[in-house]
Amino acid sequence: MTFSKETLLKETLLKEKVGIVTGSAQGLGEAIAQLAAHEGSRLVLADIQAEAGESVAEAIRRTGGEAVFQRTDVTESEQVALLVDTAVERFGRLDWICNNAVGGAGQFGPLDQLDDRGWTTTVDVCLKGVFHGMKYAIPAMLAGGGGSVVNITTSGLFKGEAMLGAYVAAKGGVHALTMSGAAEYSGRGVRINSVAPGGMETPAIARYFEKFPEFKQKTIDQHAMRRLGRPAEVAEPVVWLASDRASFVTGSCIVCDGGTLVNSHLL
Ligand SMILES: NC(=O)c1ccc[n+]([C@@H]2O[C@H](COP(=O)([O-])OP(=O)(O)OC[C@H]3O[C@@H](n4cnc5c(N)ncnc54)[C@H](O)[C@@H]3O)[C@@H](O)[C@H]2O)c1
Repeated sequence: MTFSKETLLKETLLKEKVGIVTGSAQGLGEAIAQLAAHEGSRLVLADIQAEAGESVAEAIRRTGGEAVFQRTDVTESEQVALLVDTAVERFGRLDWICNNAVGGAGQFGPLDQLDDRGWTTTVDVCLKGVFHGMKYAIPAMLAGGGGSVVNITTSGLFKGEAMLGAYVAAKGGVHALTMSGAAEYSGRGVRINSVAPGGMETPAIARYFEKFPEFKQKTIDQHAMRRLGRPAEVAEPVVWLASDRASFVTGSCIVCDGGTLVNSHLL
């Protein structure tokens, strides 16, 4: 097997590509946007936080990248449809989307104490939001000859997480939706995969530790690597999956969790 000189010398992973990142105003979404821009992608960034979202886009433009921000609530079907239209109108095509936005993960407690409102908020953002992203982005990608969807889940879905039932159930749904989407569209040129992070140093987990300081060390100790991840470390597999370098990968989940699934009670 040989690699062509062109492949080896390819300047950037996402050169000439156009992508959308949801939940990009902070945390992992911001890191994905920054790395994707660094790898040459033109970007439409989406979040419900307008000011913070706009400043992420502005920071990318300042360093020579191309990014626009559009305030978008992923739970609203029409807003996600408009987001995809913006990418196509502005940049002529859509090659990839990362469905990353999260909300309601703060619904913390045993199942018998979760209320219906909390359940609905969590499932709406984490699962319905991803459905909307796929529903509108996939036809745009098909129109351009193909593309890549990367959904963000959590490695917790493979083992369950006490006190986070609604959140992990929603993420389990995203995993299933990823597999179903891959079954439907891989033959037509759209690859669909997910990335499952472990605990990461983001504003979301900082808020959680502020509320429950006693869980900080316990959370770190859940990772075989005995540390939390940096958002940039999870952005790497996302950007790779979005790129043509992952051309034979579909229906797959990259677990990027510092070893929570292989952590041993003996060590
Ligand atoms: N932080 C962790 O430890 C961790 C662990 C496993 C998985 N994840 C996953 O990683 C992803 C990013 O998490 P994070 O830690 O960066 O979260 P975060 O809370 O720091 O950022 C989430 C972003 O989503 C935006 N958002 C919320 N509701 C929205 C909506 N309705 N429409 C559009 N945007 C909305 C928020 O404004 C925010 O900017 C999520 O999918 C999360 O489930 C995070």
